[in-house]
Amino acid sequence: MDHSKHPSKMSEEEALEELIYLSKTIEYHDKLYYQNDAPEIFDAEYDTLRARNTVLEKYFPKISLENSPSKKVGSKPQQGFEKVVHQVPMLSLSNAFSMKEIEEFMDRTRRFLKFDENRLLEILAEPKIDGLSATLIYKAGNLVVGSTRGDGKQGENITENIKYIEDIPKTLKNNFPKEIEVRGEIYISNIDFEKMNLQRIQQGMSPFSNPRNAAAGSVRHLNPEVTKTRNLGFYAYNWGIISSPIGKTLLESRVALERFGFRLTKPTKICSNIEDIKIYYEDLFEKRPSLNFDIDGVVYKLNDLSLYDRLGETDHSPRYCISHKFPPEKGATILTNVSFQVGRTGAITPVAELSPVTIGGVRVKRATLHNKDEIIRLGIMKGDTVLVQRAGDVIPKITGFISALRPKSAEVIIFPKYCPSCSGPLARLEDETIIRCNNMYLCNSQILGRIIHFVSRDAFNIEGLGEKQLKELFELGIIQKFGDIFRLSSEKSSNIHEKISQLAGWGPLSVSNIVDSIKNSKNQTLDRLIYSLGIRHVGYGASRLIAQYFSKGSTFIHKVQELTDKNNLDKFSEDLISINGLGDKAVKSIIKYFTNNISEFNDLCTFVNVKKIRDIKHNTPLSGKTLVFTGTLENLSRSEAKNLAENAGALIASQLSPRTDILVAGERPGSKLKKAKDLLVEIMDEKQFLSLFNRT
Ligand code: IVH
Repeated sequence: MDHSKHPSKMSEEEALEELIYLSKTIEYHDKLYYQNDAPEIFDAEYDTLRARNTVLEKYFPKISLENSPSKKVGSKPQQGFEKVVHQVPMLSLSNAFSMKEIEEFMDRTRRFLKFDENRLLEILAEPKIDGLSATLIYKAGNLVVGSTRGDGKQGENITENIKYIEDIPKTLKNNFPKEIEVRGEIYISNIDFEKMNLQRIQQGMSPFSNPRNAAAGSVRHLNPEVTKTRNLGFYAYNWGIISSPIGKTLLESRVALERFGFRLTKPTKICSNIEDIKIYYEDLFEKRPSLNFDIDGVVYKLNDLSLYDRLGETDHSPRYCISHKFPPEKGATILTNVSFQVGRTGAITPVAELSPVTIGGVRVKRATLHNKDEIIRLGIMKGDTVLVQRAGDVIPKITGFISALRPKSAEVIIFPKYCPSCSGPLARLEDETIIRCNNMYLCNSQILGRIIHFVSRDAFNIEGLGEKQLKELFELGIIQKFGDIFRLSSEKSSNIHEKISQLAGWGPLSVSNIVDSIKNSKNQTLDRLIYSLGIRHVGYGASRLIAQYFSKGSTFIHKVQELTDKNNLDKFSEDLISINGLGDKAVKSIIKYFTNNISEFNDLCTFVNVKKIRDIKHNTPLSGKTLVFTGTLENLSRSEAKNLAENAGALIASQLSPRTDILVAGERPGSKLKKAKDLLVEIMDEKQFLSLFNRT
């Protein structure tokens, strides 16, 4: 059966055969989703099946299947719960996947209502929560019945279970109608979802594949005591039976629902044209990773309630609203292998090698598995069909696997005992989850990792020398230590230049550009010099503290060079310990580094001209504050922004930590924004940042 064949090229028999197949397949997946809370396919795949069904039914109106998926919503209630018949059916939302389809929705609605283009058509946009829909009946302000949607006509009575959900008021406040049925979504927060899965694994149970299934599984647990232990939330967005109106518009009604004691889906926006809608959609899409719960799109609803009856419904979805789904951020693919990378600090990171899969428009071939514990937690094996997730700019990660698809040939993932790079023994410190190769100064992967770090943007910032080039030069023995980089820029190295320019992918021009950028990087501030050494526990912030303390580059270098004398070593340790904000681990690590690497450091110092770092400015709003930048700034480059902040006495760090004071978030801030919120770090946008410098 070819599911992509255009209906105009199909015979009625072929269409019938495919429609029967679709109704059976959709019914099967509905049952897994609604009754077992354990779907086997992603929403996007399910939506494709339904969309194909709709297309074929439209094209072949004569074929009418008794059990067509378009004739039902959801699935029959699960055994074990009492049934509740919905007085007002719980319909579904029609789905759109592109802005064009939303434009068509607006045009269609205008035509239907005979609104000309000058007449205002207000749309309220709100997040589409990925949870379980529920309806709550209140009589005289008291919650009497709560039920799931079920098949849209009848659901399951979950009154006992939802009593434990704090967001669901047991009694209403403030001028509520005599009878009101409030509808909304039960959800679990991302944090509680993670916690719950961890607990399940510890108890030997399989984890839930996503927050929606976790919420559904929790609320529909036959034992309400279990629901009680799950931290569930509820957002109200709609209503069924109502004894008297609560507003003329959706906005007014939302205010009323909030007054009665409900929490509402937020943020919302009133849009009057497609441009407003586009802004809201893009904005919410960016905010998605930083929200505490899962959303899978936007719902657009007409604001004027008097239009709802006029518009009526189609295919079990009302015409007054539509959902705009986000592109899927999840995918399933085969785990073909696991490789083990050795980082510059010796950390061994397992990396999942995947059959390539496109997720949210990006081709994914690898995903991090973090550490050994993560592999055990996931329970995955080579050959498994794994679930891959990527959100914003976050590195793709594996969230689980489909056990039903585990092949007989699946292989256990064996974590190496010896370093894959230098064959040295691996060890795990008591307080760490990471397994490391401790062969710090002889392990090639670690040496190369340190050289890559040395040329990186916040360190020597040598353009043109990336990971690929450095690996090649390292393997050829041309760059093996920091000083070699600068030897490469010397006039005497012309024979080496020639050799390099003959390598595949290199040419005389690229070599001369690299030589120029190496030369340009020789003048360096002390903080960058320290940071570029890649000493463990010494990030950019710590490097700056040390540089400020020693102030002059030559003082610092001199002290390091004298460390061979035991007395000087003690004196140097005391200096470091006295630096405010520099931790114990950093001090120990610095001493260890210099006692082991003095000749490499001396060699490096013969090439570098160390500048004094700028003095810290006092009494500015940023003096002494640690800043992290994320996202794209509109009016100034990252370097200019850093410069501005540094001139005002700020320290710039690349990673967020509990010691960060401010996160400056530009466009598309990615995961740092969420992390900053979790760490309670102050967040500034570009405008607020610029206003500190009286620039707008
Ligand atoms: S309005 C006609 N608003 O999405 C149905 N539904 O895929 C009116 N959902 O069954 C529902 N967030 O469970 C509405 N802000 C929101 C929603 C929302 C999530 C769910 C709801 C619905 C499903 C359809």
